[in-house]
Amino acid sequence: MVDVLAGYDLSGQVAVLTGAGSGIGKASALTLAAAGAIIVGGDIDEAAAQATADEIRDSGGIASAVRTDVTSRAQVDALIDSAVASHGRIDIMGNIAGIPHNKMVAEVTDDEFERILAINMKSVFYGCQGAIRHMIPQGSGNIINISSGAIDTPAPTLACYAMTKAAVAMLTKTLATEVGPEGIRVNAVAPGVIHTNFSRHNYTDAEGNEDPERVEKYKKRFGSMAPLRRVGEAQDVADTLLFLCSTGASFMTGQILRPNGGAAMPW
Ligand SMILES: NC(=O)c1ccc[n+]([C@@H]2O[C@H](COP(=O)([O-])OP(=O)(O)OC[C@H]3O[C@@H](n4cnc5c(N)ncnc54)[C@H](O)[C@@H]3O)[C@@H](O)[C@H]2O)c1
Repeated sequence: MVDVLAGYDLSGQVAVLTGAGSGIGKASALTLAAAGAIIVGGDIDEAAAQATADEIRDSGGIASAVRTDVTSRAQVDALIDSAVASHGRIDIMGNIAGIPHNKMVAEVTDDEFERILAINMKSVFYGCQGAIRHMIPQGSGNIINISSGAIDTPAPTLACYAMTKAAVAMLTKTLATEVGPEGIRVNAVAPGVIHTNFSRHNYTDAEGNEDPERVEKYKKRFGSMAPLRRVGEAQDVADTLLFLCSTGASFMTGQILRPNGGAAMPW
């Protein structure tokens, strides 16, 4: 019989993940670590990235954290270089860090436009460039970029966010054509509505604390728009990343996978 589970064994593979301190990045770090991967997590929130690494180490895994502002090419390079210096290689690069943005086009200032481009778009380019620098000589590698369901559904206030995520999708597809012959796969994940800190503004009170009643309302409202009748959890997206790291995805590149309950980005 084919040993299908062996394809999910990531023992010895080195994974660099940005945004590892929260939500999808944290769940992905814990999930890939549970499958045996060595995790090097970057986040602008150093304490949060450290907490993720501690949780992995406490469970017997191998992990470290590096404070990384993904808007800085030098810091993204330093994150990747630290993984290669410590572990000799980089097998998986997950460009996950990102922020939401909701504003009508007419109201967007130059500063916030530059900020969203830097955090959500340029960072992914830096992560891809930094990773392939090592992966091409290795002759192997697996890059996973986080796009968004916002690329599928035009909606008011999402222009800047959707632009950055569409750019990530196109970078993914284009880079896949460039580095496929080098043995490197490049795919993107475009989640629908996922319950993480990203969407906190939907259900926090005036002091910024989570209001359980509003959380339920948010889940009901967005969940009701999806054919699967729920919002996603970070684990749903982490599981998609795990699949992309498995041998089950070894013939997939340039693809956009959509864990979204059947609804791209309801509004
Ligand atoms: N939650 C959703 O509904 C949803 C849907 C589609 C796509 N996404 C995308 O998923 C990715 C992860 O989001 P999440 O839902 O886990 O949100 P999250 O807020 O829980 O996590 C985002 C992480 O990115 C980090 N970060 C922010 N700015 C950074 C910077 N400049 N440098 C380094 N790290 C930085 C934050 O500190 C945080 O740990 C983002 O790219 C987001 O756009 C989220």
